[in-house]
Amino acid sequence: MDILVVGNGGREHAICVALKKSDKCGKLYCAKGNAGIGEIATLVDIDPCDIEGICDFVDKNKNIALTVVAPDDPLALGLVDELQKRGHRAFGPNKAAAIIEASKAFSKDMMKKYGIPTAKYETFDSYENALDYAKGQKYPLVVKADGLALGKGVIICQSYAEAQKALDDMFNVGVFGKAGSKVVIEEFLTGKEVSVLSFCDSKTIYPMVPSCDHKRANDNDEGLNTGGMGTIAPSPFYTKEIAKEVEEKIMLPTVRAMNDLGRPFKGVLYFGLIVTDDGVKVIEYNARFGDPETQVVLPLLKSDLVEIFEAVIDERLSDIKIEWSDKSAVCVMLASGGYPEKYEKGKEIKIGTLPENVTLYHSGTKTADGKLVTNGGRVIGVTAVCDSLKEAKALSYKAIENIGFDKMHFRHDIGDKFIK
Ligand SMILES: Nc1ncnc2c1ncn2[C@@H]1O[C@H](COP(=O)(O)OP(=O)(O)OP(=O)(O)O)[C@@H](O)[C@H]1O
Ligand SMILES: [Mg+2]
Repeated sequence: MDILVVGNGGREHAICVALKKSDKCGKLYCAKGNAGIGEIATLVDIDPCDIEGICDFVDKNKNIALTVVAPDDPLALGLVDELQKRGHRAFGPNKAAAIIEASKAFSKDMMKKYGIPTAKYETFDSYENALDYAKGQKYPLVVKADGLALGKGVIICQSYAEAQKALDDMFNVGVFGKAGSKVVIEEFLTGKEVSVLSFCDSKTIYPMVPSCDHKRANDNDEGLNTGGMGTIAPSPFYTKEIAKEVEEKIMLPTVRAMNDLGRPFKGVLYFGLIVTDDGVKVIEYNARFGDPETQVVLPLLKSDLVEIFEAVIDERLSDIKIEWSDKSAVCVMLASGGYPEKYEKGKEIKIGTLPENVTLYHSGTKTADGKLVTNGGRVIGVTAVCDSLKEAKALSYKAIENIGFDKMHFRHDIGDKFIK
């Protein structure tokens, strides 16, 4: 069958690589994709948020039997609903279910109602009330824009003055637009963070291998927050005991809650977790694969991804087995100089011979005048798969010695805190 993947980044590249391995995968399309994806799929020049455009394309290309919607925005806009309305098969939650990510106020209220462990919080839709509340709180305090804000809508405030600034930015300046017209203020939790993605068909939920992101721009978790500078999987501290606790107290209750609210979730449900002294708690949900978590999780998948997507759509996940490699993966993100602030695009990327067991997942690249050039802040994720995290880290950095572009920067310590 022909398949269309919607999205542009490293996550979509990793999804395309995994789909391509399946015997069931015929012609693979990607809208819009990037230069790396273009090596294995036919690129379609339609924006992922152009709902009409994507649906018209699938209408016209009758052999497309599956559309995989990877990014948060088209999911929240209801791309899956519109595809289904037109009689097409689509992987990803519908709009009603995608709200678990698209509104933090919704997900917090759901967790409170169904007793799913999470940070204590209050929701506000006025600056004055939020500010008044912030006055009496302990610091650090976490201020979150309710809606989708490109991963930038969460501010950890060290003082009342910082909270005031964050609230002013969201309510009065409107830096996140409508996403910041409602705000969640929550207690600051301490502990180890871990991401557990899962396949969920609203009846059965299968966790994938646990992974950890490195969000800060510089070594030792210093510098600004980014979309993610590197990931590792599996997370060594995520023991069987913790996994059991998460399944019983978080995963299954979440699936039941979404059903109870009339919003059955079918797709990839992402649990952003923190292991505190007081048990595991939910930091956030995402309604999709993470980026760059996917670049270390899918390379460890042994089962057929097309089969899994189909089983989710048909609500028969319980009929299939999903197998994972017992190897470890490390992904180091190569970024443009200046990222996550201002950076330049269009720098030529030179890639030499790469070691075996290394895969490049392109995030922001394109082909211009026959050359591979940078086209985003995050440019290429370098994933190595080995018997141990230590070896995978070493191999990924060895591969990077053969890759270069003007002002390329990357972290040197991806995985270190899990290896030592
Ligand atoms: N209550 C909290 N206590 C401590 N840290 C927190 C809390 N809430 C959020 N954080 C930190 O802020 C980060 C971003 O928060 P969150 O995951 O809610 O935002 P997001 O913008 O939806 O992220 P993403 O782009 O990964 O979807 C978390 O990974 C965590 O490090
Ligand atoms: Mg999120």
